Amino acid sequence: MEIGGKTKLCGLIGNPVEHTLSPVIHNTLAGLMGHDLVYVPFPVQAGQVAQAVAGAYALQILGLNVTVPYKSEVIGCLTATDELAEAIGAVNTLVRTDGGYKGYNTDMEGLYRAMAGEGIRIGGERIILLGAGGAARAVAYLCAVKGADTVYLLNRTVDRARLVAAEVNRAAGREVIVPMALGDYRDIPGSGYLAIQGTSVGLAPHADEVVIGEDAFYEKVAVGFDLIYNPWETKFMRLVRAHGGRAYNGLKMLLYQGIIAYELWNGQAVSEQDAQTVYGKLKERIHG
Ligand code: ATR
Repeated sequence: MEIGGKTKLCGLIGNPVEHTLSPVIHNTLAGLMGHDLVYVPFPVQAGQVAQAVAGAYALQILGLNVTVPYKSEVIGCLTATDELAEAIGAVNTLVRTDGGYKGYNTDMEGLYRAMAGEGIRIGGERIILLGAGGAARAVAYLCAVKGADTVYLLNRTVDRARLVAAEVNRAAGREVIVPMALGDYRDIPGSGYLAIQGTSVGLAPHADEVVIGEDAFYEKVAVGFDLIYNPWETKFMRLVRAHGGRAYNGLKMLLYQGIIAYELWNGQAVSEQDAQTVYGKLKERIHG
């Protein structure tokens, strides 16, 4: 593309940002959709988030993504925050408005769109969620907001599961999250569950690790969704498949969080065909 006087700028703030795949998503979309826009990662040092956001606004930057470790801290630098992002307490997308940026959490909307695209529903469903860290906590909120019937939240540290459940149940105004220790999966009634893997266990280079390895657990799982996409097939996914279930990695979540951010910045929907082109490029990058 040719950069000119009217080229719009979007970017990513975080630390580190060197290995991000977001430029692939946004610069590919700009090319496909004929937008005069470029997307650039900006490493931001600790203690300089507010200056970075104010500087971006002054420079007419159209939108920003926010990554680790600033997804919570950035909320204090915004003029408004979307309801879901506010509840989760994490923002990954800033959209330029009059007077400042508004924050959104497209990570969770992206997960929701990725699952919907595979025919996976949350509304009315009984779900198993592994983990109670930052990522799993956000997924628990998503499930509550999207009307899940029950979410069995399993975590190694059961107190952490209890804290997340109490917090999400209070916000939801109903007892949707049921906290459990990992070994308590035997108490989950029946089978045919959607299981979402929201821990960091199994992430490369520890590809041979899994939170729960027992067959009896996987006999309960009809669909497994791992938030990890590196390795391409996690051990969790392998075990789900070995027991006859369908399994998905987190690359479509990454794809759609970017697509939703791009749509918010440009006020225009991305076609499914363009989404698939971007997905092909991402897959090539991480899977060859
Ligand atoms: P993130 O922000 O990526 O969610 P995190 O907040 O550090 O990262 O949370 C990591 C999650 O992985 C937690 O649920 C953690 O369980 P604990 O709360 O018991 O620490 C889980 N986890 C990490 N290593 C684990 C392991 N070896 N076995 C089981 N769970 C593990």
